[in-house]
Amino acid sequence: MNILVTGGMGYIGSHTCIQLIHAGMTPIIFDNLDNSKASVLPRIEKVCGQQPQFIQGDIRNKQRLIEVLKQHDIDAVIHFAGLKAVGESVQKPLEYYDNNVNGTLVLVDAMRECGVKSLVFSSSATVYGDPASVPITESFPTSATNPYGRSKLMVEECLTDFQAANPEWSITLLRYFNPVGSHPSGELGEDPQGIPNNLMPFVSQVAVGRREFLSVFGSDYPTKDGTGVRDYIHVMDLADGHIAALQKVGSQSGLHVYNLGTGNGSSVLEMVAAFEQASGQPVPYQLVERRPGDIAECWADPSKAEKELGWVATKTLEDMTQDTWRWQSGNPNGYPE
Ligand code: NAD
Ligand code: UD1
Repeated sequence: MNILVTGGMGYIGSHTCIQLIHAGMTPIIFDNLDNSKASVLPRIEKVCGQQPQFIQGDIRNKQRLIEVLKQHDIDAVIHFAGLKAVGESVQKPLEYYDNNVNGTLVLVDAMRECGVKSLVFSSSATVYGDPASVPITESFPTSATNPYGRSKLMVEECLTDFQAANPEWSITLLRYFNPVGSHPSGELGEDPQGIPNNLMPFVSQVAVGRREFLSVFGSDYPTKDGTGVRDYIHVMDLADGHIAALQKVGSQSGLHVYNLGTGNGSSVLEMVAAFEQASGQPVPYQLVERRPGDIAECWADPSKAEKELGWVATKTLEDMTQDTWRWQSGNPNGYPE
């Protein structure tokens, strides 16, 4: 199978390409390098002996997409490309709606013109807003509190309407919980530009000495230790979720929606302790005010994906923190230019 991977040079996309290759599929990456570097390609080759084809392009360029879909005889598309920083989305909503919503519509339009009818979309647990309870199942109500979240929700709604009008299509919405960790080789990992927004990249940059201390956003939440609780999932498990989705429902018409999480919640302080243990480095922190827009706790009920896709997350918190540290300590400044 030839799989077009939009955003395949990025964090989750690059790890998924490795697992696609291991599963005997052929990834073709389409990415504009807005938030990634070309030096990820030789790293993929180092890990799995094969370098995927890479086309530099923007998903808002329909003609280019049509050329690529035809030229590479694409069977299915995994769509990672998009912008993902919540804070930035508040400052630049147009860019977020243009890349994430318009970009997806252009992609689907190009697929339609080429007769490619199988799509897996990167959604997020952010579509559950502030959930009334945990664990969260796929049937919980959806909502959004910022332009990034709204863009994911809008895309889900557009794709749902489109699939209803085109019932022969297979469209899978994968709602990721909190992806962390790195390829166990230490060759690939998360390489955020500037100050990391997310917890784990920040913690690992403190441990490696790039930043002085972690600010823990809120210690008065109604949680086990007062700090925020999330469902951290290893990026390799997440990558495998895409392979399972393609294999199980990628050629089954319908709209398929799955949570990809572990079903376990960990607090900020538990993550800090696990990281100190894995790295042998201290992670100094300060308790500060809550971050506006944050929720107290959020974790998945992943049983639908287990039942229908035969997929379950297998990596432990120890794997997540050890692998992150291997990547961070071996590549303190991320990928080379
Ligand atoms: P990432 O930024 O590392 O990867 C996204 C890739 O898309 C980058 O390589 C970027 O260059 C590319 N891209 C952006 N706009 C593009 C465009 N218009 N045309 C072509 N390429 C474009 O992000 P990631 O963490 O790998 O996330 C992948 C997807 O998963 C995103 O859609 C994101 O919203 C979603 N997601 C991520 C998380 C997370 O915590 N990382 C959580 C939930 C959902
Ligand atoms: C964030 C996004 C969410 C996105 C998800 C992807 C916000 C408000 N939400 O969620 O839309 O889908 O990332 O994984 O940004 N924390 C600190 N100090 C830090 C960073 C984080 O204490 O420097 C805490 C947060 O308060 C939270 C936890 O760590 O309790 C995880 O934060 P983060 O990694 O940003 O993920 P989310 O808040 O779950």
